[in-house]
Amino acid sequence: MNQILPSLFAADIMNLKEECDCLYEEGFDTLHVDMMDGNFVPHIAFGPEQIKSIKKQVKMKLDVHMMVSYPERQIASVLETGAEMISVHYESTPHVRFVIDQIKQHGRKAGVVINPGTDTSLLKPLLNTVDYILIMSINPGRPNQTFIEETIDRIREVKEMIGNRDIQIEVDGGVDEDIARKCIEAGASMIVIGSYLFTDNKAHLKNLKMLEK
Ligand code: DX5
Ligand code: ZN
Repeated sequence: MNQILPSLFAADIMNLKEECDCLYEEGFDTLHVDMMDGNFVPHIAFGPEQIKSIKKQVKMKLDVHMMVSYPERQIASVLETGAEMISVHYESTPHVRFVIDQIKQHGRKAGVVINPGTDTSLLKPLLNTVDYILIMSINPGRPNQTFIEETIDRIREVKEMIGNRDIQIEVDGGVDEDIARKCIEAGASMIVIGSYLFTDNKAHLKNLKMLEK
């Protein structure tokens, strides 16, 4: 089954609770939450304390995307938030396998993320442990950027590399309804959508929901 994950970073900060309740009522099951440290990426967003509060208030599952340098220093706090899914950037630490192991040992779904400039073949040593691979389709750090077209080929490459393993492919950045469809055709099953979903008076919500099947 395919899944659309709304990205909280693109929501109206003054109305987060209402936005999330609305998404839950529309049937969205999992919320994508971006964690940014002002170092790995220039901006700062949702830290573990805020994610803990979000987890208490929001009925959806949480998919935490850690855009932080040295995630091994923060993984314990992120696990404490209760998030069901946590992903960590390949580029953010020499100890990516260690962080993934921590996530798995706590019974959560573990993901590895690659930036647009990172070779997909680097994922090979992690294929026997991760639950999902997040392929960035923009350079991470802020919403509302243009989708990088080469991502479609990268999804195909990763899909082939995965073979018959039970690993989902997630895509994040610059995705609208048409692009979501292309990503799904190429082999992705988890599609993160920020600005496109939170603009236009949510007229897009229902159409996006239809892609989940
Ligand atoms: C950006 C974040 C994304 C972002 C997506 O680095 O990881 O989750 O919020 O927003 P859009 O869909 O607007 O690119
Ligand atoms: Zn993200």
